[in-house]
Amino acid sequence: MKFHNILIKWYLQNKRDLPWRKTTDPYPIWLSEIMLQQTRVAQGMPYFLAFTTTFPTVFDLAKAEEEQVLKLWQGLGYYSRARNLHKTAQTIAFDRNGIFPDNYTELLKLKGIGEYTAAAIASFSYNECVPVVDGNVFRVLSRYFDVETDIAQASAKKEFAALAFELMPKENPALFNQAIMEFGALQCVPKNPNCTECVFATSCAALQKKKVHLLPVKLKK
Ligand code: ADE
Repeated sequence: MKFHNILIKWYLQNKRDLPWRKTTDPYPIWLSEIMLQQTRVAQGMPYFLAFTTTFPTVFDLAKAEEEQVLKLWQGLGYYSRARNLHKTAQTIAFDRNGIFPDNYTELLKLKGIGEYTAAAIASFSYNECVPVVDGNVFRVLSRYFDVETDIAQASAKKEFAALAFELMPKENPALFNQAIMEFGALQCVPKNPNCTECVFATSCAALQKKKVHLLPVKLKK
């Protein structure tokens, strides 16, 4: 069986029930992905619910005072994320009539939307074939293929993106992207992963070589 078939089967049996996965609307997807950067799902969830309740549409967020947005963000940290969120909401609401760009390249042009977030929105909302590369993806792929590239190097993202793209079923990039991130978050965790009960126990290169704890390689900080 192919990597993506095993991964997606695992995902469908083990995924968490998360609100931003029940929609293809780019607005809540964008909110969730900005909030979940450097933030655990359990910590981000109440903020996601507060934002979507207070600002149900991108117009509501755009019209708010920055002060109100920052107040609702309080406790999440990295306040530049909240300021960029507000500015980009205004761009989308007032310059684009509330319409999000519908592809990776155009999404990247928005303030606060980097490669990861653009790939997440493009795949989850529009099923564009672009791989997400976050810490989970680095960990899963570096271990599965025994890739010793230093993930702190700028070039690592491209290498892992190319690898993820090859593995991705082109008819369902959204499912694959959700699945690989969830697998990294729940099964292929940073410390003491339960490799004896892993669906990749017989095919993971790092496990065969007893190198799971050594990967991914992360040098400079
Ligand atoms: N962390 C970042 N993006 C996520 C997503 N879409 N689902 C769960 N956790 C995430």
